Parts: sequence; C-alpha cells; structure tokens
Amino acid sequence: MCGIFAYLNYLTPKSRHEVLDLLVNGLKRLEYRGYDSTGVAIDSSENKDIVMVKRCGKVKVLEDAIAEHFSGHEFDAPVMTHVGIAHTRWATHGVPCETNSHPQRSDEGNSFVVVHNGIVTNYKDVKTFLEKRGYVFESDTDTEVIAKLVHHLWKKHPGYSFRELVEQVIQQLEGAFAIAIKSKHFPGECVASRRGSPLLVGIKTKTRLSTDHIPILYGKDDKSPQTCEKEHRPHGQTRDLSVLPRNESTSEFMPLEGKEVEYFFASDASAVIEHTNRVIYLEDDDVAAVRDGALSIHRLKKCLDDPHAREITTLKMEIQQIMKGNYAYFMLKEIFEQPESVVNTMRGRVRFDTKTVVLGGIKDFIPEIKRCRRLMLIGCGTSYHSAVATRQLLEELTELPVMVELASDFLDRNTPIFRDDVCFFISQSGETADSLMALRYCKQRGALIVGITNTVGSSICRESHCGVHINAGPEIGVASTKAYTSQFISLVMFALVMSEDRLSLQQRRLEIIQALFKLPDQIRLVLKLDNQVQELAKDLYHHKSLLIMGRGYNFATCLEGALKVKELTYMHSEGIMAGELKHGPLALIDDRMPVMMIVLRDPVYVKCINALQQVTSRKGCPIIVCEEGDEETKSFSSRSLEIPRTVDCLQGILTVIPMQLLSYHIAVLRGCDVDCPRNLAKSVTVE
Ligand code: G6P
Repeated sequence: MCGIFAYLNYLTPKSRHEVLDLLVNGLKRLEYRGYDSTGVAIDSSENKDIVMVKRCGKVKVLEDAIAEHFSGHEFDAPVMTHVGIAHTRWATHGVPCETNSHPQRSDEGNSFVVVHNGIVTNYKDVKTFLEKRGYVFESDTDTEVIAKLVHHLWKKHPGYSFRELVEQVIQQLEGAFAIAIKSKHFPGECVASRRGSPLLVGIKTKTRLSTDHIPILYGKDDKSPQTCEKEHRPHGQTRDLSVLPRNESTSEFMPLEGKEVEYFFASDASAVIEHTNRVIYLEDDDVAAVRDGALSIHRLKKCLDDPHAREITTLKMEIQQIMKGNYAYFMLKEIFEQPESVVNTMRGRVRFDTKTVVLGGIKDFIPEIKRCRRLMLIGCGTSYHSAVATRQLLEELTELPVMVELASDFLDRNTPIFRDDVCFFISQSGETADSLMALRYCKQRGALIVGITNTVGSSICRESHCGVHINAGPEIGVASTKAYTSQFISLVMFALVMSEDRLSLQQRRLEIIQALFKLPDQIRLVLKLDNQVQELAKDLYHHKSLLIMGRGYNFATCLEGALKVKELTYMHSEGIMAGELKHGPLALIDDRMPVMMIVLRDPVYVKCINALQQVTSRKGCPIIVCEEGDEETKSFSSRSLEIPRTVDCLQGILTVIPMQLLSYHIAVLRGCDVDCPRNLAKSVTVE
C-alpha cells in the first residue's frame, strides 16, 4: 500500500518536463497500491531548491496540477543529472489531504524530502524528541519525522554523507517502511531503504551492464561477522541521537562506472518494466545510495549468513501484461485472462500425457511434508478464500489435518505451532503484512514454510523454505480475480503431488487431472455468460444487499463472491454456508431480499436443494447457479446461470467467475471505480 517511485538520471540529459512525465507515469502504474493522494518533488530550474506538487485524489489530479503549476516556467531545458521522487498514498496516519501527502519535508526550505510506504510505529517518540529541539510539525503523518530527523542529524554532523545520515535515521525507526529521500544539500543523489515494505532499484544503461551483482558494503563489523540480533530498546525510548557511532568503514565504492545511467526506485516491478528489465530487490535494512551516478548498497552490520552482493535480476514481465489493452478496466481484463492464466499456473507442472504432476519449487520437501503433523493454510482476503476452497480436497488427498487461518486472527490467538507443522502462506503480492508476520512467527517456531505467491522476489517468496509461484501474471485490479483461480489450482496440484503414490487415490487423481485439462475451455464457456450476468446486475444494482449461499466445495465461492461485491460495489453482501441457513440467515429471506444460490450435482446436492426449498417457501426468489441442462434445479427459479459440469473439487473455479463478473457489472452500474475501490489498496503492507 502506497507506491513509491523515484527517478535519477545521471549524465543522461532529460528536461524537467520529461522527468515529471516519467514520475507521473510511474505513479499511474503503482496507483493500485493506494490512491488517496499523490505528490512529486523535483529541482526547480531557477536555483537548487526543491519544488513539490501534492494533491488529494488520484494521479490524474496531480497530473493536471503539475501542468498548471509549471505552465509558463522554463522546464524544457535538458538537465544532465537530476533526482525526482513521487508517491501515491493510501492514508494510514492523517486524512488524505495535501499536507499529509508525500513527499513530506524537513523544513520550509525543503532541505530533505521523503516518500514513505509503511508505518513508523515509534513516530510519536521521535516526534517528541524533535519537537524538543525546535522542530514544528505540519502534517499528521508518521513520515514527517523521517524528513525532520535527517535534517536534525545533518545539522549535527555536517561531515556526514547523505547515505550515512539515512543509515543513522533508519536505526531510529521502528515499524515497517520503504523510503526514498532527496535533498537540496546533496543534489544528484538519492538514498533509499526498506524494512518490511518492498522496494526495488531498476538500472538502465546504454551499454550492457558489466556486472550482474552489486557488492554489499557492510559497516564496522565487516571484518568480524557476528550474529546481529536486533537491538532491544523498550518501546518509547529513543536513543540519544547525538552519540550515535558513525559508520566509518563503508568507504565510497563505485560498483557501476559512473557514466550515463538512469536509476528507478519503485515499490514494484510494474513501474519500471517499460524502462528497464534489470532490477535489484532490496532486502530489509539495505541502504541503497546513488552518488555521482554510482549505486552502492550498504548494511550496518554483517550477520554470519549474509551474502556479499545483491543480484541484478532480469525481469521476465512483458509491458503488455501491465497494460489494459482494449478492456475498460484491469479487473475485466484479468477476469477474461483466466483461461490463459490457469494454463500458465499448470504449465510444466501437470503432464496430461503421463498424468503426473511435479512442483519443482517444493519437490525436495515432499518427503518432509508427508511426515508432518498437520498442514496450516494461512492468508488474508481472497488468498484466504483459496485456502477455504481447497481444504476439503487437501484433507482427502493428503489424509492430514488441514487448518485454514486468517493471518490476522492466527496472530491474535498466538496459535500454537510446532516443528512438525507445515505452514502455507498464500499471498498474491507476497507482501501482505499480516501474512508475513504470521510467516515469521511460524518460522521462529521451526515449522516448514511454503509460500504460494504471484510475485517473484516478494518478501514471502524470499522468506519461505520452498514454494509455488502461481504464475498468474501481474494482477493490477485491486480486487483479486485471476490470482484466486491460480492459487486454487496451485493448491490442487499440491494435493495431487501428495497423493501420487497412494493406490487407493489413483482413480480420484486421474479424474481431477482430466478435469484440469478441460478447465481452460470450460472457463471460456463460463465467460460467455457475461451478457446474462450483466442483465442480472441490472436487476440487482439498486439493492442494498446480496446474499450468496452454498456449501461444500462451493462455500468458498460464496465468501469470495460476497467479498468481490463488497469491495467493488460498496453494497452489503454476505457469503452464507447453506447448512447454517436455519440458524439465522433464514430470517433475512423475504420476497425482496436478493439471493444467489449455488446448487450443483455433487455430494451435497440434496442438502442444497433442501436449502433452496426453504428459501423459496419463504417467498425468496434466488438466482440459481446450476449445472448445464439441470432442468430440475432450474425449475425452482425464473433466473439461473448454467455452468459446465466438472469434477466436484474444481467446481469452485467455474462458479467464482460469474460472481467476479457480477460484482464488476454492479460496480459499473453504480458508477464505482472498478480498479480502485474506495478505501482499499491492493497490497496491504501494514498490520
Ligand atoms: C488486499 C486486497 C485483496 C487481497 C488481500 C490479500 O485486501 O485488496 O484483493 O486478497 O489484500 O492480499 P495478498 O497479496 O496477500 O493475496
């Protein structure tokens, strides 16, 4: 949540006009991360001062404000070296308004300006410390303390480099952050760092890079590696900043020849891919600094197992993947991509000719997983629903107890975890704070950690022992769609791998593998219901509420469908376990309450029909999702959607698609912003 984008051109002439276009474009790519307010900071043309433009609202508002702000100014002249920083915000501390937008500044002269993602949990203590030293705060943000603290240290230690100042600052910060800082006292330099929030550096050079890694420069302890436990400081105590030791041993080292180079600091790869495919994913507590065109990465302490360098990764992403193409919204594009995205999830893993499944990322761990005490599936939002959707199959094919947990609740309960537990962390972004915290909690207790993510290089990816990349491709729409179906399939593939040598389960496995083969075409058929779904949306969009009922393999679809409706349309919606109908929800039923019911020919069919009868006998008129040609079930209602028949455990993939389409159409009819629902963000990197 929140998007950081910074751009540094070194000996690469760019007009400030071009720089601003680049920054705004970068923010547009990151807008899905947060879209309450935005801002940019660049150098003024007149002197060394920094100019900021900030606005409440989406990037488009900022774009217009920039055009207005700079009209009549000389900003077409090329500048050889320049740093610009930009931000799109998802408010945590302080309402969305211009003053609370980023960049936040150190003083009225804009000496240091900061963009920040995450939450500084000890900001009140730092603020008190700074207020006592005369600093006057103008915003309600936690971020402002960062800018003012750098300024304070700069005044105190005039000889420190920009990077050293930032190193001192991050030692004082608690919580999660990714930051990029610009200063008028260090023109042409940019310093960035992260802890718990993602940040990467894109590198663009005219010639091929002469290296595929950037050495890490360690602080004082470089020569004597030690275990660097995080220093314990009781909450509320700020260290005396005037006596901090200086990090002397990190001599300036130029790993890249300081020639014609451009750097991009961004919260994720989608913002840099149109400029370069060469990136470095920063790790927690890395400080990346560019000075005289050279990038260097520093860490204060070296731990025993710390690497010597950060690798420069080549992104596999294509620019088309992050463009909307002919679709009105990313979400619609992503819904319609599902016939291909599920194939990409299975590619190279499910061999339909030999009826075998191999998951390269976890195959070496399968014996250990088979010996475990239980499987825990942990996630948030849609990712949690994919766990609910596959739990029954996992129980059946692994014959292990399977616990499904919401990461936040799991942490609240201090859930007991043991060395022989296997904990799956399911996350599209791989950065969700609650899931990441839960991962670390389980890892500390010795459990085996399996990551199921869509984002290569994400924190969950890197901190897992093994895992499965769901390969759904970039998902930009805030409401998750194709990631859900790909997570679902990844977990199904895992269940198939676990049951490979169980003779009694071979028939079942075969049935599932054959059904997986047909799935992409069946998804195409379901997508053809789009017009029908749109008509249903016209009946529903002016209502206040929508109940979605089902059970067994389709309960997860009810939860996920209701979540989509809530997220996108701001209507109340509830996913109801049909088995619970008599225990409360039946009281909601009358001839006006909109209800959808999923009634498929599977082992719980009779029970679903029972629920359907109970609803219709209370004058309810449900929209029924049933199997193609099931006239008997259809006869209960005048409105139905027919989906192709598949094996019971995969039905959820086909039944969720009409729900995705329905929420989309209702949102459009209600005039909602489909890709950027109010108050939400795609990647929730704060607890
Ligand atoms: C946010 C998003 C949801 C997503 C959830 C979990 O709430 O808006 O679409 O399901 O986070 O995100 P993750 O990246 O961990 O799957």
